[in-house]
Amino acid sequence: MRKHLNETFAAYVKKYDQQIPMIDLKYHHAYRVAELAEKIAVSLQLSEEDQELAYVIGLLHDIGRFQQVEDYDSTDDKYMDHADFGVYLLFDENLIYQFYNKENNFAVIAKAIANHNKKNIAANYNKRERLFAKIIRDADKLDIFYLTANDEIVFWKAGFEVSPLVWQNFIAEKPIDYRDMKTLADQLLLFLAFVYDLNFHFSFDYLKNTKYLEIIMNKYNKPYNFDFNLVRQKIMKYLDYYSQKTENAV
Ligand SMILES: [Fe+2]
Repeated sequence: MRKHLNETFAAYVKKYDQQIPMIDLKYHHAYRVAELAEKIAVSLQLSEEDQELAYVIGLLHDIGRFQQVEDYDSTDDKYMDHADFGVYLLFDENLIYQFYNKENNFAVIAKAIANHNKKNIAANYNKRERLFAKIIRDADKLDIFYLTANDEIVFWKAGFEVSPLVWQNFIAEKPIDYRDMKTLADQLLLFLAFVYDLNFHFSFDYLKNTKYLEIIMNKYNKPYNFDFNLVRQKIMKYLDYYSQKTENAV
């Protein structure tokens, strides 16, 4: 099953030009996110069927990216929402059957993928839909931290001054809106604020163990117009708090 899934995904991406860095990045991102999503499912002691489901959602969550990059040469969702487009490909164009055919899980897959780039999980998701939406949100963010720590994502904004709204949200431990991101300072805080949206014990443990956040903060240690030590401490404290809790922070 795993081999079939992985090969089918590779065959799908072959239709696109893997010489384009963003296509290649998203291709490898998919496999890592699938593995992470599965590990979260294991950590939650979900059934084998649900572990597989987490893997499938992880692998397919960015399936809409490839067409987006080809058509728009951009990953900016203001031109085309890649999550909604992915759901369209899978369930309107029926691409899903190439990968997975347990129809009783289709709604869960569609909702988790549609939601993964949205600010919040919609109120009308049921418990199971919320669970898998949270799993993919966490797995995706963990890999974004990996990519940033390893310079596969390089911050592209300039300017050491934080925008007031970004600072306010960061301090309030709230996610930061992409549209508010104007400077390098904003971009760093926006990425760091992803930790506020993490749900599972596994994710906090993973970040503590890999030290990705420390690596990112050291890499982007610049003369900002705010107290960078305060930011560091705040993030590390948050991580410590949730990684020491034995319960899942859901
Ligand atoms: Fe995505």
